[in-house]
Order: sequence, then C-alpha cells, then structure tokens
Amino acid sequence: MEAQPLTIRASADQAIVWKHDRLYLLDQRILPNEEAYIELQNATETAKAIRVMVVRGAPAIGITAAFGVVLAARACFRASPADWRERIQVDLQTLAESRPTAVNLFWALERMRRLFPTVGDEDPEPRLLQEALQIHKEDIAANHAMGDFGASLIAQRTSVITHCNAGALATGGYGTALGVIRSAYSAGRIERVYADETRPWLQGSRLTAWELARDAIPVTLLTDGAAASRMAQGGIDWIIVGSDRIAANGDVANKIGTYNLAVAAKYHGVKVMVAAPTSTIDMAVASGREIPIESRDPAEVLQCGGRQVGAAGVEAWNPVFDVTPATLVDAIVTEKGIVLSPDGQKMAELMAV
Ligand code: MRU
Repeated sequence: MEAQPLTIRASADQAIVWKHDRLYLLDQRILPNEEAYIELQNATETAKAIRVMVVRGAPAIGITAAFGVVLAARACFRASPADWRERIQVDLQTLAESRPTAVNLFWALERMRRLFPTVGDEDPEPRLLQEALQIHKEDIAANHAMGDFGASLIAQRTSVITHCNAGALATGGYGTALGVIRSAYSAGRIERVYADETRPWLQGSRLTAWELARDAIPVTLLTDGAAASRMAQGGIDWIIVGSDRIAANGDVANKIGTYNLAVAAKYHGVKVMVAAPTSTIDMAVASGREIPIESRDPAEVLQCGGRQVGAAGVEAWNPVFDVTPATLVDAIVTEKGIVLSPDGQKMAELMAV
C-alpha cells in the first residue's frame, strides 16, 4: 500500500490515531504553537516517542504501547512467521523500558502479550490490532464514566485547580481529571479551572490550557507556587488530578507537585479528587514507597523552552512524579466507582468488582 499522509485537523481527542494501517501521534512537545502528527514505523520509534514525550500521560502511553506491539508483530511475522513470538520479545522489552512510572504501560503490554498464544499460525496483526483498538475504546468509555462519577461529587458550583495534563491528550480521549471537569462544567458545577503551569514540561500551560480553551471552559494559568495562595483566597472546593500509578493502599503517584497541592489543600480545607481508570491501579505495589519514580535529565529544569535559565554549573534535581499519601486523598474516581478516603481494604473491594 502507498504511504498516505495524515490529513486530519489536530485535535486533543485524536492524539493517537491508527489510520491506513499506520500509527500517528500528535506531537505534544510542540503544542500549542504547532499542531503536527508524527508517523511511527516500528516499536523502537514508538518507545522513543514515549520516552521523549511526543505522547505522554499514563493511559495514552499504554494505548500507544499497545499499537507499538501491533507494529512489532507485523515486522516480526513478516521477517519470520515461524518464530515471531520469540523475535517480538526484544520489542516488548524496548517498549517496557520507555518510561517507568505509568503502570498503564505495563498493563497494556501484558494485555497484548497474553494474546500471543491464542493466535495460532496465522498472521497475528489483525487480532492484536483489534485488541489495541479495544484498549483505546475502553479508555474513552472509562473516562466518560469517571466524568459522571467525579461530577457527582461536586456538590455546589465552584472553581477547581488541576495539575499537569490529565486530559484527552493524556488518554484515549475526553480525559481523566479533565473528563471530570468537562462533565462537571456541562452540569454547571464548575465556574473556572485554575491550571498549574507544571514545570518543567509545562503540560499545564501548553496542553491543559489548550484543551480547555478549545472547549471554551474558562481557564486561568497559575505558576505551580501560586496554587496555595489561590486556595487561601477561597472559592476552590476541589483539586482534581489524574495519576500514573495508584498503590494497593491508595497512595497516588502523579506529576511532581501534586503532593505539594494535596498538603496545601489539607491546610485550606480543599478536597482532593484523583480520577484514574483501574488500569492505573497497581495492586502489586503495597504502598507509594514501592512505586518507581522517573528521574529525567536535569537540563529540563536548568532550561526553559530550550534556553538556559539556571546558573551555569549548578546541579538540578528532576524527579518527574511524586507520591501523595492516601490520607491526603478524599476520593479516587474510577470507571468502576468512587473510593472515598481510600485505604487498602476499600481499594481491594473496588478491584474485586
Ligand atoms: O510526564 P507526563 O506528562 O507523562 O505526566 C503525566 C501526568 O502526571 C498525568 O497527570 C497522569 O499521567 C494522568 S494522565 C490521565
């Protein structure tokens, strides 16, 4: 088949596109100034796109990896139909090593891997593609369910603060935290969204603000350090964020700075809602202490927009996620339901449903 360019208008709901048997990603590194798609040819390119943050956000990373497995299976089967299952192991490893914290990555790879024995001698691509599309579809449905559940917790019209980007761009579409915000806004329960800019990658100012502005949802940007002062002024009932991994006891790993927000929220009597699909819950880790936290290049802190801003020769510490203890979380909202004041027993009950 001739290569066909992707001719769709860039949209947050189409950050991951499978079209003409090809995988395209909206390049989130250059939003909002440029809207461009990148085509990925194989698992190595897919892993690189995840590592360098062409695509980011836990559910979106998982969905992308699932499509990466489809590309890998295509190449391995074409090279050697008899032993594609052995050959593909290297690609699975490459994808698994792309980013460590978002458990959705490992969840999606495992879901794809489980199908390998069921395919028989035929070409595995159609079956694996069907599964990757299903993972994508289920994630969108989960976000809409979470949107309804989360909105039901917002008792009165209020402004909210969100952190990083947990929107359509970070998921299959609609978003986790932004899904709740979208549903609550439609129901008239949200006045305004305050979006932390989210240093150093600026997912808040570049991506969350872009998504909300496109939906005409009132959004105001804050530097990360301004959130506590905004809470002190009143009118903020909820912090609403997503997650990269939730431990069995309800501890939540999310973008660095989420913990600061939760501590400040406790002091100001503001509630904390974490919206995440059950694919983000890792019952194999007992507490947040066991969650691997990604550390990225210090240059990301020392630079801004590619320009050096840190003093020459200084060091920078760049953990890109932190852990908010379950005791600081008022509600975990999933597609299966809501867990109020999460703890180990309640998380186990949710996952048993
Ligand atoms: O480093 P990122 O941009 O991948 O971090 C993303 C986040 O921390 C999100 O809040 C999280 O993945 C939830 S996305 C629905």
